[in-house]
Amino acid sequence: MSRTPFIAGNWKMNKTMAEAAEFADAFKKQEIHSKAKMAFCVPFTDLAVVKKAFEGTEVGVGAQNVHFEDSGAFTGEVSLPMLKEIGLDYCIIGHSERRQYFHETDESCNKKLKKLLNESSIIPILCVGENLDEREAGKEEEVVSSEIKADFEGIPEELAEKVVIAYEPIWAIGTGKTAGPEQAEKMCGFIRRTFASLYSQEAADKLIIQYGGSMKPENAEALLAEPDIDGGLIGGASLIPEKFAAILNAAK
Ligand code: 13P
Repeated sequence: MSRTPFIAGNWKMNKTMAEAAEFADAFKKQEIHSKAKMAFCVPFTDLAVVKKAFEGTEVGVGAQNVHFEDSGAFTGEVSLPMLKEIGLDYCIIGHSERRQYFHETDESCNKKLKKLLNESSIIPILCVGENLDEREAGKEEEVVSSEIKADFEGIPEELAEKVVIAYEPIWAIGTGKTAGPEQAEKMCGFIRRTFASLYSQEAADKLIIQYGGSMKPENAEALLAEPDIDGGLIGGASLIPEKFAAILNAAK
């Protein structure tokens, strides 16, 4: 089964509008010789700027969160109708930083996935992964399978197969520690089998699974060469045009 690699940047809470526009100009000058799909998931305030800057190019644009209600008294939140008007391609759901600092739960991730899948063509990038204590206790598979089962609860196969899953071991995010290619492959393979057990082998064969956690030009090629790793969700290195281009070029 051949799957098109997908490399996405997650800018997290970085770059003002002016900095985003500057980044886009510099990124457009990079030489990309990769067939991988690419996107940047940027802060809400940067969405319209980045969307306009990459109009007519292959670069997709995504948000980092969405609320599951259309409107109402939810101070500080952004809704799907607001995102749809910008014309986005992707939306990250359940990043570990949102789960950790903003009390995102599997229940809210499930509601957000359903909202995106039922009411838009925006592709969710669902993040799952274990923390250091869970890894040291040998519970990584238990944690990740429980997240996947809860996050996909009640979502039918024809919608579930549109989702991209990012395996992001929390201990490897922003720490410089990367899961080794074998470690990352083992978990991405496990995620594919879990998805197959929930849905079908056919759906699992099509599922795009990214690895995220200190992916950079130096380690991207080895990680992306693994059969169950179909791409990357890149934090720090997506803020630098040359580094993100080098990671894209490492995707065969
Ligand atoms: P880093 O690449 O900075 O480790 O971040 C990974 C990540 O959390 C992407 O969503």
